[in-house]
Amino acid sequence: MEHIFQQGSRPASPTFLMLHGTGGNERDLLPLAGHIDPSASVLSVRGNVLENGMPRFFKRLAEGVFDMEDLAIRTKELYDFIGQASEKYGFDRSNVIAVGYSNGANIAGNLLFTYADALKGAILHHPMVPNRETELPDLTGTPVFIAAGTNDPICPAEESTDLEKLLQNAGAKVELHWESNGHQLTMSEVEAAKAWYSKL
Ligand code: MLT
Repeated sequence: MEHIFQQGSRPASPTFLMLHGTGGNERDLLPLAGHIDPSASVLSVRGNVLENGMPRFFKRLAEGVFDMEDLAIRTKELYDFIGQASEKYGFDRSNVIAVGYSNGANIAGNLLFTYADALKGAILHHPMVPNRETELPDLTGTPVFIAAGTNDPICPAEESTDLEKLLQNAGAKVELHWESNGHQLTMSEVEAAKAWYSKL
């Protein structure tokens, strides 16, 4: 997968897996990683699917309607890619924290929904429930931060509360942060994510 890797300054710090929104690329979220923890390594990935020229992490049939077969294939592809990248760059595979926005948050959510060992934790900006038909793995103790919008037209508020419940039922420790700025990724929710991260 197209990506950027940046080696962190502190070996014990995590590697941030940065996952952009629809139409973005691997450069978009780099400033966020440096803001949350400048000592962390960064693996920032570009989605392999193109929708009218816009990169995404998996296909959709309509807005908010996912192609579930493609989602499963792309989730495995990303999972395998993280493993390959950890060998190539020498980072700790068990210390990866995803930071995703919108479509990128949705594939990060599906990594959590599919694999117990994909992520040490996740920061999800404006995610949806990636799959309502699956049984989640044991996520006991996995910390997850969700930033959601009370008036997000793409992710209705119940998507966020349903996601919180599903993750909690699998054992994850979820913090849900609300804003009222639609689907936007705001600086104030990034600050809230940073505050959450600093307590891990
Ligand atoms: C998705 O397709 O993942 C969601 O609708 C969010 C987005 O617009 O990318």
